[in-house]
Amino acid sequence: MKANQWPRRGREASIRDVTEQDLLAVQAINEESVPAMNSLSVRRLRWFLREAEYFRVAESRSQVAGFLICMAPEAPYASPNFRWLNERYRNLLYIDRVAVASGFQRCGIGSALYRDASRKAGDRFRMFAAEVNVRPMNERSLRFHRLLGFEGVGMRDHGYVKVQYLVRPLPLQTAPSGR
Ligand SMILES: CC(C)(COP(=O)(O)OP(=O)(O)OC[C@H]1O[C@@H](n2cnc3c(N)ncnc32)[C@H](O)[C@@H]1OP(=O)(O)O)[C@@H](O)C(=O)NCCC(=O)NCCS
Repeated sequence: MKANQWPRRGREASIRDVTEQDLLAVQAINEESVPAMNSLSVRRLRWFLREAEYFRVAESRSQVAGFLICMAPEAPYASPNFRWLNERYRNLLYIDRVAVASGFQRCGIGSALYRDASRKAGDRFRMFAAEVNVRPMNERSLRFHRLLGFEGVGMRDHGYVKVQYLVRPLPLQTAPSGR
């Protein structure tokens, strides 16, 4: 699969655990992604650093190029989307957010982060679960998730935003290179 090849467009990148020192760069990428994702303070990111099952970054030439945060079902997380999915599916690995800096998109980094999460945690969870905004429409994220095999399992209108819920069995196939 084409999206398994990474990094593309001449980028060098690797995936590693997030550190406290990365949080400002992670926040900057997060803010660049609003309204596809909600705004987050560094303080809140520190909470994810403590509570997330998976929080890793893609790094390219010493720069944080993207990140992925996933929560385990038992996480003390009040998100209504997390709850909606948890009430319907057992043992899911909830994707709270994924974002890639604009200069690094379409290089395979987002897909590589998902494969990394699958490799690190895929044997402990039955499926990935996520939501994507359909109002305002986030077409690129829907395309990205569909390409990775996610399927829609419901919609919810929160008023300020409408989301589509998506799930995908774990594990994901890993790239032939093993990255
Ligand atoms: C969604 C996102 C994480 C994808 O990350 P990425 O590193 O660019 O994704 P990849 O390079 O792995 O893309 C894999 C495939 O997804 C699809 N895709 C990704 N971005 C796309 C875009 N802008 N338009 C159309 N398809 C797209 C393509 O099929 C792509 O494969 P291709 O480039 O070979 O055609 C990134 O666009 C992003 O950070 N968006 C802003 C934040 C956001 O919306 N997060 C998701 C919230 S639910």
